[in-house]
Amino acid sequence: MSVFNQSFVAAICAFFLLISSVLVPGVSAQNLPTGQCVTEFKAGNDYFTDKVTVETATLFSVEYFNHYKLVTNTKTKEVFGLYQCGTINDLPANVKPFPISVNSVAVTDTSSSAFLDMLGLRSVIKVLGSADLISSPCLQYAKDTGEITILSTNETLNEITLGKVDLIFGATDAATDQKSVSVSTANDPGVLNRVEWIKFYSVFFNAESKANEVYGKIKSNYECFKNLVVKNTLAEKPVVAWVAYEAPSEFNQNTAAYKIADAMFKKQLTEDAGGIYFNSTTLSYSILGDFLKVIENVDILIDETFIAPTLDDVYKNFELTPDQQKYKFLKNQAIYREDGLTGPNDGRDWFENAVVMGDALLEDMINVVNPKLPKPDYQRIWLRNVAKNEPIKISSSNNCSDINQPSFSKADDCSALPPVSVKGDGSISSTPTFFSYLIAFVFSILLPIFQ
Ligand SMILES: *[C@@H]1O[C@H](CO)[C@@H](O)[C@H](O)[C@H]1NC(C)=O
Ligand SMILES: *[C@@H]1O[C@H](CO)[C@@H](O)[C@H](O)[C@H]1NC(C)=O
Ligand SMILES: *[C@@H]1O[C@H](CO)[C@@H](O)[C@H](O)[C@H]1NC(C)=O
Repeated sequence: MSVFNQSFVAAICAFFLLISSVLVPGVSAQNLPTGQCVTEFKAGNDYFTDKVTVETATLFSVEYFNHYKLVTNTKTKEVFGLYQCGTINDLPANVKPFPISVNSVAVTDTSSSAFLDMLGLRSVIKVLGSADLISSPCLQYAKDTGEITILSTNETLNEITLGKVDLIFGATDAATDQKSVSVSTANDPGVLNRVEWIKFYSVFFNAESKANEVYGKIKSNYECFKNLVVKNTLAEKPVVAWVAYEAPSEFNQNTAAYKIADAMFKKQLTEDAGGIYFNSTTLSYSILGDFLKVIENVDILIDETFIAPTLDDVYKNFELTPDQQKYKFLKNQAIYREDGLTGPNDGRDWFENAVVMGDALLEDMINVVNPKLPKPDYQRIWLRNVAKNEPIKISSSNNCSDINQPSFSKADDCSALPPVSVKGDGSISSTPTFFSYLIAFVFSILLPIFQ
């Protein structure tokens, strides 16, 4: 290196050192981990160097200031003011104030625990709304060992229990309760919108960096699966209807209703998996015959009726018999339910992990639309073919392999899957293509050259 080059490099180094010392005076390049407070507050310091940017979710927003953040649930219009503990609380009026980081939470919305679990924050969950709702093995374990309390029917007791936590994540807007944080994950329309709520949770714990990592991974894996479907489109895309039977009750004037679902994420999932989403101008029927006429040509039925675990239940609810082969979904033996994985008390993982693990959810749906994808031996997690009597998988506390490990998406790594090439008729050709031979050939020539 010439003298000129050396001094040039030195000058550049000095320049960057100067810049970095001006931009971040005395601040570590990371948000304070959960549970830690600022010891010496300096006004003007950026205490949140790790930030999230909302990309696709539509029902929350995050704004950063030097020592506090404002998080808004735009559906319920609640604004949460999160100020770093050890700094000052000079939050705007009309926000619910929370010093962060938060150390203990109660959870009354089923998907919240799954989001926290993926952020590595399972241990901050101290209270759950109902024991019946948990499918997570490690949360069941924490309940069994007394680390997690379950809310009871005794309101006095519940008040005492909830008095001990820093905040309560819940689906409802308990605007009067200063500790409650409304979450609207289930209302955010798209699959990735729902996944992106992991960023919402992360801001309460300064866990933005982890949220960005998890979301980024799930998103790119989702897009890879979507691509895999595009490359293996069926010549005739099957029509998928998401339906439910509502038994007569006080909520529907004692009249049974037969419903066709209308949810954007179900439409996205169906289409991204290579199917056609069945929609209709009439979404609720009181006359069974009318409903059955409408769905007669549906290839795949997803029965969302809450309680109907067996094929006999499905037959009973829709007054069908096995010999009615004019219904394509019966002929195809393609009736799926969302209860493939539950806790011992029927707590559905569909309402927990299936929300945050959007890539794994798409993988399940891809396999419903085309059983040969995404790989020949794929085992669905949530969507269970009740027409083929597939069993419900039960997870209990002894399925918790390591209480200290965060959960991670159960999806396959799409980019590492062996290539499948499915011809338009759905049959798989497993012989390598000319192209893959060509690549192997080129590599075999190039490798020795570079070694
Ligand atoms: C409810 O809990 C409170 C506090 O533990 C207790 O004093 C009371 O007896 C309970 N009420 C009932 C009906 O069990
Ligand atoms: C289904 O159709 C109804 C009625 O035409 C429409 O309002 C709704 O947006 C559609 N749903 C989806 C998910 O496309
Ligand atoms: C839970 O563990 C039991 C016993 O080891 C096993 O049979 C079962 O398949 C596991 N459940 C799940 C959902 O993995």
